[in-house]
Amino acid sequence: MTAAVRKFERAFAQWLPVRSAFAFWKGRVAMYAILKAMGIGEGDEVILPGYTCVMDVNPIKYLGAKPVYVDIEPVTYNMDVRLLEEKITPDTRLIIAQHTYGYPCEIDAIMDVGGRHGIPVVEDCCVAVRSTYKGTVCGTYGVATYWSFQWNKAFTAGIGGMATTDDGELAGKIETICREQLRLPSAKAALALSVQRFFYRLLIYPRTTGAAAAVFRWLTGKGVVIGSSSAEEFTPTMPEGFFMGMSSGQGRAGLRGLRKIDRNIAHRRRMRAIYDRLLGKAGLDVAEIPAYMDPVLVRYPVRVADKQRALAAAPGKLLEIGSWFECPLHPSQTPMHLYDYQEGMCPVAERACRETINLPTHPRANERTARRSVEFVAEIGRPKDS
Ligand SMILES: Cc1ncc(COP(=O)(O)O)c(C=O)c1O
Repeated sequence: MTAAVRKFERAFAQWLPVRSAFAFWKGRVAMYAILKAMGIGEGDEVILPGYTCVMDVNPIKYLGAKPVYVDIEPVTYNMDVRLLEEKITPDTRLIIAQHTYGYPCEIDAIMDVGGRHGIPVVEDCCVAVRSTYKGTVCGTYGVATYWSFQWNKAFTAGIGGMATTDDGELAGKIETICREQLRLPSAKAALALSVQRFFYRLLIYPRTTGAAAAVFRWLTGKGVVIGSSSAEEFTPTMPEGFFMGMSSGQGRAGLRGLRKIDRNIAHRRRMRAIYDRLLGKAGLDVAEIPAYMDPVLVRYPVRVADKQRALAAAPGKLLEIGSWFECPLHPSQTPMHLYDYQEGMCPVAERACRETINLPTHPRANERTARRSVEFVAEIGRPKDS
């Protein structure tokens, strides 16, 4: 591991704060390291919300365990804790508490269920950086947490991930696994990612994102650039070279992101307030979030009458409209049956996938971005029976 990566790990741990941090090529790799260190294996059951990214399910399947999905509640898009306990069986070994879009999940209640059944909780903070729940920062509740620094997360290293924990024994196990099994990215991959970061900084603004994303997907398909996910990652078998550490360039980019994090977070809080105000003024629905949650939104989710029309029209209007999640195990090309998901398992999540788009909150978005986005949402209209 390089000095820059070690420095990023230390800075990240200090900032959270937590005792140990381990950097990886991607967030999903960090998740895999945590699960492996916890001894998750063949026949074990891991509970998680049925409204996530398939890359969050892969590590469970790679280890031979079974994902068990809990439906969400429709306001914060997080696990509906009323449905959690009934999913617990003698084989349940772990609960994943995902904080979706940056809205904290009901972590107190999840910790309580886990505690009563002797099941540990791991937090997924890939899209929740500095959100707080009852005054405590998300990512410090569970036995461990994983984070993502992929392109559209709160701050980016191009791609990248971190595993954090306060548990000395677990940290020791992660360290051993990394020492024995973690590979370093090739110089070619690290360089390609550096070039991508450069172009990203230069070219990506709310008005250019739609076109840039299309070009990026095309170049990824041609194998010219490093995509967030490869075709092999849409099967539940671990691809060659998956368990990879972080490059120096990612470490330096992560450190830069961390240096600017307070401004970034303050901006995202402001953007949320702006969207709330503009949506309210336009007579559209504004999520009523409990006062004990202070979310830092990585994207601002909003429901529309015709999601497909919205997604098709947005690039032409130079609007940055996102589509998480397209199906309970995003994206839509996921063969969900291979991941133990059958249609109808999580109806609230499935409806959210059909209706929800998301709007930018990042530092390059501003009040004008929000105004144009909300006008567009108003034009599409809200779902009929919401
Ligand atoms: C909720 C959630 N968890 C985990 C991940 C995986 O993160 P990464 O892309 O860094 O592997 C994602 C990916 O977007 C995600 O949305």
